[in-house]
Amino acid sequence: MTDTIGRTDIPGYGEPYRGKVRDVYRLGADRIGLVATDRISAFDHILPRAIPYKGQVLNLLAAYQFEQISDIVETHLVEVPHPNVTIGKACMGIPVEVVVRGYLAGHAARTYAAGGRYLCGVRLPEGLRENAPFPSPILTPATKAVEGHDEDISEADLLRQGKVDPHIWEQVRTYAFRLFERGTRIAAERGLILVDTKYEFGLFHGRVVLMDEVHTPDSSRYFMADDYEERLKRGEKPRQLSKEFVREWLMGHGFQGRDGDVMPTMDDAFVEHTSQRYIELYERLTGRPFVPTPVRGYNETVKAAFDRVTGRP
Ligand SMILES: Nc1ncnc2c1ncn2[C@@H]1O[C@H](COP(=O)(O)OP(=O)(O)OP(=O)(O)O)[C@@H](O)[C@H]1O
Ligand SMILES: [Mg+2]
Repeated sequence: MTDTIGRTDIPGYGEPYRGKVRDVYRLGADRIGLVATDRISAFDHILPRAIPYKGQVLNLLAAYQFEQISDIVETHLVEVPHPNVTIGKACMGIPVEVVVRGYLAGHAARTYAAGGRYLCGVRLPEGLRENAPFPSPILTPATKAVEGHDEDISEADLLRQGKVDPHIWEQVRTYAFRLFERGTRIAAERGLILVDTKYEFGLFHGRVVLMDEVHTPDSSRYFMADDYEERLKRGEKPRQLSKEFVREWLMGHGFQGRDGDVMPTMDDAFVEHTSQRYIELYERLTGRPFVPTPVRGYNETVKAAFDRVTGRP
Protein backbone atom coordinates (compact mmCIF):
# COMPACT_ATOMS: atom_id res chain seq x y z
CA MET A 1 0.00 0.00 0.00
CA THR A 2 0.94 3.63 -0.42
CA ASP A 3 3.22 5.12 2.25
CA THR A 4 1.44 7.33 4.77
CA ILE A 5 2.44 9.88 7.39
CA GLY A 6 1.20 8.66 10.75
CA ARG A 7 3.41 10.54 13.14
CA THR A 8 6.11 13.03 12.29
CA ASP A 9 9.50 13.65 13.83
CA ILE A 10 11.36 16.48 12.16
CA PRO A 11 15.03 16.19 13.26
CA GLY A 12 16.19 19.11 15.41
CA TYR A 13 12.69 20.46 16.09
CA GLY A 14 11.80 18.56 19.21
CA GLU A 15 8.48 17.07 20.20
CA PRO A 16 5.59 18.78 18.41
CA TYR A 17 2.15 19.43 19.84
CA ARG A 18 0.19 16.53 18.41
CA GLY A 19 -3.41 17.32 17.60
CA LYS A 20 -5.69 14.62 16.31
CA VAL A 21 -4.65 15.36 12.73
CA ARG A 22 -1.77 17.85 12.74
CA ASP A 23 1.66 17.87 14.34
CA VAL A 24 2.48 21.45 15.26
CA TYR A 25 6.10 22.61 15.54
CA ARG A 26 7.14 25.90 17.08
CA LEU A 27 9.46 27.81 14.74
CA GLY A 28 10.68 30.75 16.75
CA ALA A 29 8.51 33.46 18.27
CA ASP A 30 6.28 34.24 15.32
CA ARG A 31 5.94 31.09 13.27
CA ILE A 32 4.64 27.56 13.54
CA GLY A 33 4.94 24.63 11.17
CA LEU A 34 1.70 22.66 10.88
CA VAL A 35 2.26 19.22 9.40
CA ALA A 36 -0.99 17.66 8.25
CA THR A 37 -0.54 13.92 8.82
CA ASP A 38 -2.64 11.15 7.31
CA ARG A 39 -4.30 10.44 10.65
CA ILE A 40 -8.06 10.45 10.61
CA SER A 41 -10.33 11.10 13.55
CA ALA A 42 -14.02 10.55 14.14
CA PHE A 43 -16.07 10.87 17.32
CA ASP A 44 -12.96 12.50 18.83
CA HIS A 45 -10.94 9.29 18.39
CA ILE A 46 -7.97 8.74 16.14
CA LEU A 47 -8.61 5.74 13.91
CA PRO A 48 -6.06 2.92 13.87
CA ARG A 49 -4.93 3.37 10.27
CA ALA A 50 -3.70 6.37 8.33
CA ILE A 51 -5.33 7.34 5.02
CA PRO A 52 -3.03 7.79 1.99
CA TYR A 53 -2.85 11.44 0.85
CA LYS A 54 -5.43 12.63 3.37
CA GLY A 55 -2.90 15.05 4.90
CA GLN A 56 -2.10 16.59 1.53
CA VAL A 57 -5.74 16.81 0.56
CA LEU A 58 -6.61 18.60 3.77
CA ASN A 59 -3.62 20.92 3.85
CA LEU A 60 -3.92 21.95 0.19
CA LEU A 61 -7.67 22.36 0.52
CA ALA A 62 -7.25 24.58 3.58
CA ALA A 63 -4.67 26.67 1.71
CA TYR A 64 -7.06 27.00 -1.24
CA GLN A 65 -9.94 28.02 1.00
CA PHE A 66 -7.79 30.50 2.94
CA GLU A 67 -7.05 32.22 -0.36
CA GLN A 68 -10.76 32.46 -1.15
CA ILE A 69 -11.50 34.42 2.02
CA SER A 70 -8.31 36.43 2.57
CA ASP A 71 -10.05 39.70 1.69
CA ILE A 72 -12.45 39.22 4.63
CA VAL A 73 -10.05 38.56 7.48
CA GLU A 74 -6.33 38.23 8.02
CA THR A 75 -5.36 34.54 7.94
CA HIS A 76 -2.53 32.66 9.59
CA LEU A 77 -1.28 31.26 6.29
CA VAL A 78 2.28 32.27 5.44
CA GLU A 79 3.35 29.61 2.96
CA VAL A 80 2.96 25.98 1.93
CA PRO A 81 6.51 24.66 1.51
CA HIS A 82 5.35 21.06 1.05
CA PRO A 83 1.86 19.66 0.27
CA ASN A 84 1.57 18.38 3.85
CA VAL A 85 2.87 21.53 5.51
CA THR A 86 1.66 25.02 6.27
CA ILE A 87 3.87 27.66 7.82
CA GLY A 88 1.54 29.75 9.94
CA LYS A 89 1.66 32.83 12.09
CA ALA A 90 2.05 31.62 15.67
CA CYS A 91 -1.16 32.85 17.25
CA MET A 92 -2.46 32.86 20.74
CA GLY A 93 -5.61 30.85 20.20
CA ILE A 94 -8.93 32.24 21.34
CA PRO A 95 -10.33 29.25 23.26
CA VAL A 96 -13.66 29.13 21.43
CA GLU A 97 -14.80 26.96 18.55
CA VAL A 98 -16.74 29.45 16.49
CA VAL A 99 -19.48 27.32 14.94
CA VAL A 100 -21.86 28.78 12.38
CA ARG A 101 -24.89 26.78 11.24
CA GLY A 102 -27.08 27.45 8.24
CA TYR A 103 -29.11 24.24 8.55
CA LEU A 104 -30.60 22.08 11.27
CA ALA A 105 -28.15 19.18 11.14
CA GLY A 106 -25.86 17.11 13.34
CA HIS A 107 -25.77 18.06 16.98
CA ALA A 108 -28.30 20.88 16.46
CA ALA A 109 -30.78 18.44 14.92
CA ARG A 110 -30.36 16.00 17.79
CA THR A 111 -31.02 18.78 20.31
CA TYR A 112 -34.08 19.92 18.36
CA ALA A 113 -35.47 16.39 18.00
CA ALA A 114 -35.19 15.99 21.77
CA GLY A 115 -37.40 19.06 22.18
CA GLY A 116 -34.68 21.66 22.72
CA ARG A 117 -35.61 25.03 21.28
CA TYR A 118 -32.49 26.90 22.41
CA LEU A 119 -28.99 26.25 21.16
CA CYS A 120 -26.20 28.28 22.76
CA GLY A 121 -28.78 30.82 23.80
CA VAL A 122 -30.21 31.10 20.29
CA ARG A 123 -33.97 30.54 20.02
CA LEU A 124 -34.84 28.01 17.30
CA PRO A 125 -38.14 28.44 15.45
CA GLU A 126 -40.91 25.84 15.71
CA GLY A 127 -41.73 23.46 12.89
CA LEU A 128 -38.23 22.97 11.46
CA ARG A 129 -37.51 19.74 9.68
CA GLU A 130 -34.19 17.99 10.12
CA ASN A 131 -31.68 19.27 7.54
CA ALA A 132 -33.86 22.27 6.67
CA PRO A 133 -32.36 25.78 6.65
CA PHE A 134 -32.66 28.21 9.55
CA PRO A 135 -34.29 31.54 8.64
CA SER A 136 -30.72 32.88 8.76
CA PRO A 137 -27.41 31.36 9.92
CA ILE A 138 -26.85 31.12 13.66
CA LEU A 139 -23.73 31.27 15.81
CA THR A 140 -23.35 28.37 18.25
CA PRO A 141 -19.99 28.63 19.99
CA ALA A 142 -18.34 25.83 21.94
CA THR A 143 -15.58 26.14 24.45
CA LYS A 144 -12.39 24.44 23.34
CA ALA A 145 -11.79 22.01 26.15
CA VAL A 146 -8.16 21.29 26.98
CA GLU A 147 -9.19 17.69 27.30
CA GLY A 148 -12.32 15.84 26.38
CA HIS A 149 -15.34 17.12 24.54
CA ASP A 150 -16.11 20.67 23.60
CA GLU A 151 -19.15 22.17 25.26
CA ASP A 152 -21.81 24.44 23.87
CA ILE A 153 -21.91 27.90 25.34
CA SER A 154 -23.98 31.01 24.68
CA GLU A 155 -22.33 34.23 23.59
CA ALA A 156 -23.59 35.87 26.79
CA ASP A 157 -21.88 33.22 28.95
CA LEU A 158 -18.68 33.46 26.92
CA LEU A 159 -18.46 37.11 27.84
CA ARG A 160 -19.72 36.66 31.39
CA GLN A 161 -17.09 34.00 32.07
CA GLY A 162 -14.42 36.20 30.56
CA LYS A 163 -13.40 33.57 27.98
CA VAL A 164 -12.95 36.31 25.43
CA ASP A 165 -12.66 40.08 25.49
CA PRO A 166 -15.95 41.72 24.35
CA HIS A 167 -14.21 43.96 21.84
CA ILE A 168 -12.43 40.99 20.27
CA TRP A 169 -15.58 38.87 20.30
CA GLU A 170 -17.43 41.56 18.40
CA GLN A 171 -14.84 41.30 15.62
CA VAL A 172 -14.84 37.50 15.70
CA ARG A 173 -18.61 37.16 15.32
CA THR A 174 -18.71 39.70 12.50
CA TYR A 175 -15.96 37.81 10.65
CA ALA A 176 -17.65 34.47 11.29
CA PHE A 177 -20.91 35.51 9.62
CA ARG A 178 -19.09 37.09 6.68
CA LEU A 179 -16.96 33.99 6.23
CA PHE A 180 -20.03 31.78 6.32
CA GLU A 181 -21.68 33.88 3.67
CA ARG A 182 -18.62 33.59 1.44
CA GLY A 183 -18.29 29.86 2.12
CA THR A 184 -21.94 29.43 1.18
CA ARG A 185 -21.44 31.24 -2.11
CA ILE A 186 -18.30 29.31 -3.05
CA ALA A 187 -20.06 26.06 -2.20
CA ALA A 188 -23.05 27.02 -4.36
CA GLU A 189 -20.73 27.56 -7.32
CA ARG A 190 -19.66 23.92 -6.87
CA GLY A 191 -23.17 22.55 -6.54
CA LEU A 192 -22.86 22.29 -2.78
CA ILE A 193 -24.60 23.62 0.29
CA LEU A 194 -22.45 24.71 3.23
CA VAL A 195 -24.41 23.28 6.14
CA ASP A 196 -22.29 24.22 9.11
CA THR A 197 -18.68 24.91 9.91
CA LYS A 198 -16.22 25.66 12.67
CA TYR A 199 -13.75 28.54 12.72
CA GLU A 200 -10.79 29.05 15.04
CA PHE A 201 -9.42 32.52 15.61
CA GLY A 202 -6.28 33.67 17.36
CA LEU A 203 -4.43 36.83 18.21
CA PHE A 204 -1.21 37.71 16.43
CA HIS A 205 0.49 40.89 17.59
CA GLY A 206 -2.89 41.96 18.92
CA ARG A 207 -4.74 41.39 15.66
CA VAL A 208 -7.59 38.93 15.18
CA VAL A 209 -6.46 36.23 12.73
CA LEU A 210 -8.26 33.21 11.26
CA MET A 211 -6.15 30.13 12.01
CA ASP A 212 -6.20 26.33 11.81
CA GLU A 213 -8.26 25.47 8.69
CA VAL A 214 -11.30 26.84 6.92
CA HIS A 215 -14.21 25.32 4.97
CA THR A 216 -12.53 21.91 4.75
CA PRO A 217 -14.43 18.63 5.04
CA ASP A 218 -12.91 18.11 8.49
CA SER A 219 -14.27 21.41 9.78
CA SER A 220 -17.47 21.65 7.72
CA ARG A 221 -20.48 19.74 6.56
CA TYR A 222 -21.66 20.02 2.96
CA PHE A 223 -24.81 18.75 1.24
CA MET A 224 -25.10 18.07 -2.48
CA ALA A 225 -27.31 20.81 -3.85
CA ASP A 226 -28.84 19.19 -6.95
CA ASP A 227 -31.26 16.76 -5.32
CA TYR A 228 -31.39 18.40 -1.89
CA GLU A 229 -34.94 19.82 -2.21
CA GLU A 230 -36.38 16.61 -3.62
CA ARG A 231 -34.85 14.42 -0.99
CA LEU A 232 -36.00 16.72 1.81
CA LYS A 233 -39.56 16.63 0.41
CA ARG A 234 -39.46 12.85 0.26
CA GLY A 235 -38.21 12.78 3.85
CA GLU A 236 -34.84 11.37 2.83
CA LYS A 237 -31.45 12.42 4.13
CA PRO A 238 -29.51 14.78 1.87
CA ARG A 239 -26.39 13.38 0.23
CA GLN A 240 -23.37 14.69 2.07
CA LEU A 241 -19.92 15.63 0.97
CA SER A 242 -17.93 15.22 4.15
CA LYS A 243 -16.37 12.59 6.30
CA GLU A 244 -19.84 11.54 7.43
CA PHE A 245 -19.35 8.25 5.56
CA VAL A 246 -16.52 7.45 7.97
CA ARG A 247 -18.79 8.03 10.96
CA GLU A 248 -21.48 5.91 9.34
CA TRP A 249 -19.04 3.09 8.66
CA LEU A 250 -17.92 3.18 12.29
CA MET A 251 -21.50 3.22 13.58
CA GLY A 252 -22.30 0.31 11.26
CA HIS A 253 -19.52 -1.54 13.08
CA GLY A 254 -20.82 -0.63 16.53
CA PHE A 255 -18.46 2.25 17.28
CA GLN A 256 -19.67 5.70 18.34
CA GLY A 257 -16.85 6.67 20.65
CA ARG A 258 -18.75 5.66 23.77
CA ASP A 259 -16.99 4.09 26.74
CA GLY A 260 -16.64 0.40 26.04
CA ASP A 261 -17.09 0.73 22.26
CA VAL A 262 -14.45 -1.26 20.43
CA MET A 263 -12.73 0.33 17.46
CA PRO A 264 -13.35 -1.88 14.40
CA THR A 265 -10.49 -3.08 12.21
CA MET A 266 -10.12 -1.09 9.00
CA ASP A 267 -9.33 -3.33 6.05
CA ASP A 268 -7.28 -2.24 3.01
CA ALA A 269 -10.40 -1.75 0.90
CA PHE A 270 -11.93 0.71 3.37
CA VAL A 271 -8.66 2.61 3.74
CA GLU A 272 -8.36 2.87 -0.04
CA HIS A 273 -12.00 3.90 -0.39
CA THR A 274 -11.56 6.63 2.23
CA SER A 275 -8.49 7.93 0.44
CA GLN A 276 -10.44 8.11 -2.83
CA ARG A 277 -13.31 9.92 -1.15
CA TYR A 278 -10.97 12.57 0.27
CA ILE A 279 -9.42 13.08 -3.16
CA GLU A 280 -12.91 13.48 -4.66
CA LEU A 281 -13.71 16.05 -1.99
CA TYR A 282 -10.63 18.03 -2.95
CA GLU A 283 -11.48 17.96 -6.63
CA ARG A 284 -15.11 18.87 -6.06
CA LEU A 285 -14.33 21.78 -3.74
CA THR A 286 -11.48 23.26 -5.76
CA GLY A 287 -12.51 22.28 -9.28
CA ARG A 288 -8.89 21.19 -9.77
CA PRO A 289 -7.41 17.71 -10.24
CA PHE A 290 -5.52 16.40 -7.23
CA VAL A 291 -1.90 15.53 -7.98
CA PRO A 292 -0.51 13.33 -5.21
CA THR A 293 3.07 13.85 -4.04
CA PRO A 294 4.84 10.70 -2.82
CA VAL A 295 5.48 11.08 0.90
CA ARG A 296 8.77 9.20 0.94
CA GLY A 297 11.57 11.52 2.09
CA TYR A 298 9.18 14.28 3.18
CA ASN A 299 11.23 14.70 6.35
CA GLU A 300 14.19 16.26 4.55
CA THR A 301 12.03 18.72 2.61
CA VAL A 302 10.15 19.76 5.73
CA LYS A 303 13.35 20.12 7.75
CA ALA A 304 14.86 22.31 5.00
CA ALA A 305 11.75 24.52 5.05
CA PHE A 306 11.83 24.79 8.84
CA ASP A 307 15.56 25.66 8.70
CA ARG A 308 14.84 28.42 6.23
CA VAL A 309 11.99 29.84 8.34
CA THR A 310 14.03 29.77 11.53
CA GLY A 311 17.17 31.02 9.78
CA ARG A 312 19.23 27.99 10.79
CA PRO A 313 22.27 27.34 8.63
N1 LIG B 1 -1.86 29.71 13.56
C1 LIG B 1 -1.99 28.97 14.66
N2 LIG B 1 -1.41 29.36 15.82
C2 LIG B 1 -1.51 28.60 16.94
N3 LIG B 1 -2.19 27.42 17.00
C3 LIG B 1 -2.79 26.98 15.87
C4 LIG B 1 -2.73 27.74 14.65
N4 LIG B 1 -3.42 27.06 13.71
C5 LIG B 1 -3.90 25.95 14.31
N5 LIG B 1 -3.53 25.89 15.60
C6 LIG B 1 -3.80 24.79 16.57
O1 LIG B 1 -3.03 23.69 16.14
C7 LIG B 1 -3.73 22.46 16.37
C8 LIG B 1 -3.93 21.75 15.06
O2 LIG B 1 -4.04 20.39 15.24
P1 LIG B 1 -5.32 19.53 14.90
O3 LIG B 1 -6.15 20.21 13.88
O4 LIG B 1 -4.87 18.15 14.65
O5 LIG B 1 -6.00 19.61 16.31
P2 LIG B 1 -7.41 19.05 16.75
O6 LIG B 1 -7.23 17.68 17.23
O7 LIG B 1 -8.44 19.38 15.75
O8 LIG B 1 -7.67 20.00 17.97
P3 LIG B 1 -7.13 19.93 19.41
O9 LIG B 1 -5.70 20.35 19.39
O10 LIG B 1 -7.99 20.94 20.06
O11 LIG B 1 -7.34 18.52 19.86
C9 LIG B 1 -5.06 22.86 17.01
O12 LIG B 1 -4.92 22.76 18.43
C10 LIG B 1 -5.24 24.31 16.58
O13 LIG B 1 -6.01 25.04 17.49
MG1 LIG C 1 -8.44 20.67 14.10
